[in-house]
Amino acid sequence: MTTRSTSLKEQPLEAPAFNETTAWALLRALSRRAALGQPLVRPAGLALDAEGNLLELPIGRGIVSVSPGAAPCFELGADAERAGAELFELFLPLCVGSASETLVVGHLGQSLDGQIATASGASQYVTGPENIRHMHRLRALFDAVIVGANTVECDNPQLTTRLVPGKNPTRVVLDPRRRVQGERVLFRDAAAPTVLLCSRGLEHHNGLGQAEVVGIDAEGELLPVSSVISALRARGLKRLFVEGGGVTVSRFLEARAFHRLHLTVSSVFLGTGRPGIALPGIDRLDGALRPRVRRFTLGEDVLFDCEFS
Ligand SMILES: NC(=O)c1ccc[n+]([C@@H]2O[C@H](COP(=O)([O-])OP(=O)(O)OC[C@H]3O[C@@H](n4cnc5c(N)ncnc54)[C@H](OP(=O)(O)O)[C@@H]3O)[C@@H](O)[C@H]2O)c1
Repeated sequence: MTTRSTSLKEQPLEAPAFNETTAWALLRALSRRAALGQPLVRPAGLALDAEGNLLELPIGRGIVSVSPGAAPCFELGADAERAGAELFELFLPLCVGSASETLVVGHLGQSLDGQIATASGASQYVTGPENIRHMHRLRALFDAVIVGANTVECDNPQLTTRLVPGKNPTRVVLDPRRRVQGERVLFRDAAAPTVLLCSRGLEHHNGLGQAEVVGIDAEGELLPVSSVISALRARGLKRLFVEGGGVTVSRFLEARAFHRLHLTVSSVFLGTGRPGIALPGIDRLDGALRPRVRRFTLGEDVLFDCEFS
């Protein structure tokens, strides 16, 4: 993606500064439009009205001009702040273009030796505070955040956006055998809708706080990733963020379900622990999965933004 910093002659004088706050508000507004089935697909100048709704203006007007497409790019006024530009650079591809309506993105924070937690399941925190904030931003841009049963058991997570402005996504737990304990906080706190997906027949097993329990056809003990995505789309949840852990993200990757995967690497060695990505082996290197990659610095960590075609 290219960023050009030029003076926009037609930019109204009263346009607010393009900084981290306005950039984040614009990205949220763009992702809301995508979730409503109206993603930005044409070049436009963008601004926000008093309620934070997106205004689509002629190119060259507004706070920023955006060209969606295969490699989205944007054009800023000379007074734009760097933090806002960096945020746009990272997140714009997740918020515009026709694919953004049904985007599926994963994230893992891992050590240099590829682990996401210690063997006992301790993972708070492998990566630094900037990456934790990054995860909260990802939650805010998506309809649903998906985690596996082990993550709920080990972390008792809330899966909210409490570190950034933005709406909490629907929380989705993949628990084919109904082994996750019912007192976990996300089933009880009413902070956001919560859905537990299990093997069909177990949905009537017992109640789970405020969570909706949905049975889907399993293949053995596996909930096919395509069925998981279909079940969520049927509930209006089309933009999906898979937050972990390693088993869950690996199954989505193996099913080729990701548009993008954010892998944040921290400069620490954990030794034998819980692995991040684990895929079936290959014999020849020409069979390797080679995404297009952009690299970003998040504090002391390095984020690899992997894009799959
Ligand atoms: N660093 C990070 O970014 C990060 C993020 C999240 C979690 N974590 C840590 O990672 C650890 C948990 O990760 P994990 O890899 O062990 O497990 P996980 O991915 O959280 O959960 C895996 C389990 O979820 C169920 N599951 C997931 N996908 C499924 C599918 N498609 N079909 C059927 N069942 C599915 C299975 O349950 P069954 O076993 O019942 O079949 C599976 O064993 C914890 O220690 C947590 O703290 C780290």
